[in-house]
Amino acid sequence: MLHGLAEPGPATMTVEEVTGAPASTFETWASEHTADFLGTMRAARIHEYGDASVISLDEVAVPKPGPGEVLIRVAATSFNPSEVGLRMGLLQDVLGVTLPHTLGWEVAGTVVTGAGDLAPGDRVFGLIDGAAAEYAVAKASMLARAPERIPLADAAAVPVAGLTAWQAVFEHARVGRGSRVLINGAGGGVGCSPCGWPSMRARTWWRPPARAAPPPYGRWAPTRSSTTPALPCQAATTC
Ligand SMILES: NC(=O)c1ccc[n+]([C@@H]2O[C@H](COP(=O)([O-])OP(=O)(O)OC[C@H]3O[C@@H](n4cnc5c(N)ncnc54)[C@H](OP(=O)(O)O)[C@@H]3O)[C@@H](O)[C@H]2O)c1
Repeated sequence: MLHGLAEPGPATMTVEEVTGAPASTFETWASEHTADFLGTMRAARIHEYGDASVISLDEVAVPKPGPGEVLIRVAATSFNPSEVGLRMGLLQDVLGVTLPHTLGWEVAGTVVTGAGDLAPGDRVFGLIDGAAAEYAVAKASMLARAPERIPLADAAAVPVAGLTAWQAVFEHARVGRGSRVLINGAGGGVGCSPCGWPSMRARTWWRPPARAAPPPYGRWAPTRSSTTPALPCQAATTC
């Protein structure tokens, strides 16, 4: 018996009772603190507005996710024409950014530190800021699970054009069940999106250029033959 020291507690006490917090494994703790151990990463940033020469590959700290945020190991990003406008300083009135600014709005990658419904290892994609880097953080609510059947590099091309189409169809046009829809420019980045959505494509038909080659991705895909004149594709569909 050691004098002056409290009696040890009963051997049946649990970790929760002693620490006041739920028990955690080392694996869980390590995955929650991964960002602390990653150190630095490369990021494509601009320090001033201008042509492509203003983009520099900088060594910067790996961002730390805040509450509700996910740390993503970036597999791919893609660049939208609007981002060229941002880089050139043409969008300062509508899209104010602080310089230096990490480029990349579209991301596809793998979750390193999870939040919400997303756990380490999940493949995700979405529209975020700062995706032109080895790691990026984003609100879990801004991400969706990336399709399993396409490479992450392809998934990174979807978010901006796909969300533009989604907003046009459901938020602005308020298309609903039974709506008859004509998609003009259905062979383009925005127009081809709705034609692939399961709710739209069931009764989609195409008016492809005459004598067009077989569609590469299915009967609703835009077609173009090198021997036919370039006619705009249109798709008509019913939800
Ligand atoms: N991409 C985005 O993320 C995004 C975001 C916001 C807004 N927008 C806007 O959305 C529009 C479409 O963008 P996008 O990225 O889908 O462009 P895109 O990939 O260049 O596609 C444009 C489509 O429009 C067709 N087209 C061109 N002239 C036409 C005409 N006179 N009649 C019918 N169809 C015609 C083209 O047909 P051909 O292929 O046969 O030439 C092509 O299929 C643009 O106004 C763009 O500024 C795009």
